[in-house]
Amino acid sequence: MTLKLNRRQFIATGTAFAALGARSAAAASPELNARVADIQLLPENYGSTRIWGFEGMAPGPEIRVVQGARVQRRLVNGLPDVTSTHWHGIRIDNSMDGVAGLTQEAIAPGTSFDYDFIVPDAGTYWYHAHNRSFEQVARGLHGALIVEEPDPLDIDHEEVLVLDDWLIDPDTAQIAETFGAMHDLSHAGRLGNYITTNGKYNLSKPVNRHERLRLRLINASNARIFQLALDGLEGWIVALDGMPLAQPREVEGTFLLAPAQRIDLIVDVTSETGGAGHIVQFDRNESFSQVAFEVTGDGAKSRRAAPGPLPPNNHAMPQLAGARDLSLLMEGGAMGGMRGAMMGGRMSSMREMMQSGNFWAFNGSVGGLDGAPLASLSHGETVRLKITNDTVFPHAMHLHGMHFHEISPDGSLGPLRDTTLLERGEVRDIAFVADNPGKWLLHCHMLSHAAAGMMTWIEVA
Ligand code: C2O
Ligand code: CU
Repeated sequence: MTLKLNRRQFIATGTAFAALGARSAAAASPELNARVADIQLLPENYGSTRIWGFEGMAPGPEIRVVQGARVQRRLVNGLPDVTSTHWHGIRIDNSMDGVAGLTQEAIAPGTSFDYDFIVPDAGTYWYHAHNRSFEQVARGLHGALIVEEPDPLDIDHEEVLVLDDWLIDPDTAQIAETFGAMHDLSHAGRLGNYITTNGKYNLSKPVNRHERLRLRLINASNARIFQLALDGLEGWIVALDGMPLAQPREVEGTFLLAPAQRIDLIVDVTSETGGAGHIVQFDRNESFSQVAFEVTGDGAKSRRAAPGPLPPNNHAMPQLAGARDLSLLMEGGAMGGMRGAMMGGRMSSMREMMQSGNFWAFNGSVGGLDGAPLASLSHGETVRLKITNDTVFPHAMHLHGMHFHEISPDGSLGPLRDTTLLERGEVRDIAFVADNPGKWLLHCHMLSHAAAGMMTWIEVA
């Protein structure tokens, strides 16, 4: 991949190098310390909670760069377990993708790994642990990775909102150490009992009436599908999983944010001064304020005109005629009726699968990193992949390294995504140009499912 620097990036990079000049070359990468910390996660009348976090925070520090820039971080593993860091949604060089066991060796405690990559696309991304993710992400190892457009948007504020779902023992204020519980592996995944935004259960931001905000929503939870709506705010979805929509989509009613997905919104504050706007979260028949925007003052007298689309990122368009057809049948789980699947090279009963903590199959095989790839693709090939969710649970399927188009029911190319939600029984076709060489995971982002068989990979050579 060649790097084209525009003027602003060039200046930023130049400054970075000038600043580094005083230090030794070996210290070039800023450190990102993965470590254990005690933080006040619960309301003040509870004790502190022990987490694993980047720089001891959950979410970790926001990493923010301009499109086309280079990101360098020395991941220092201060955890009591091996780890690796994945940069979710970045069209990255394969060796920097951070998948322990596929693209790199796991980073041992007390050692480090230098991540160094270019971010080709503007948008909202995130980074998270990718070893025993069902445990390490649940303990707090994730953060936002924001890639700015070269030219600023016409907005008044921007808020990055990392939504998380923690499973906490209220008696001890500690994270429930039930990672890999059979029920989570086999049902809807590890669902929590304490929902936060940017680590707070009651995040509130002051705004003025008629201000225009850009909201970058990131779902960092293990398994929760957020059902959201706007109240006292009116707006448009302008990007999904970092990638701009061709046309902003006005928000009407509720919208879903599945694990690992991102939504960029542009919203106008329509609530009266003294009132509040909200991102509302629905859970069964109840609704809660996920984030409050307290309208503390009068802004402009009137609203602005509707926003135009964000500038597109540069993606090759799949040509469906002549595409390689692939299919992925997702089976298993509780109440799924699967009798067994291939595991370790032989047919195994569901009972045998369960004994090793496996509950799901892709195309009749329990998935993992050691098996053969789902497909070996040649560079530049267009793929059309039919995904069939033949289970009774929803799944958020994520492809590393490349974004794909969801294909709409009428056969046209829908939005670019890196994570697509399939409801129970749903079938979805996706298409992409395999233009990033390497080994790329394709897995369910309900992290307990990925650990229990819902994981495969493709190779692009
Ligand atoms: Cu968000 Cu395989 O990862
Ligand atoms: Cu799943």
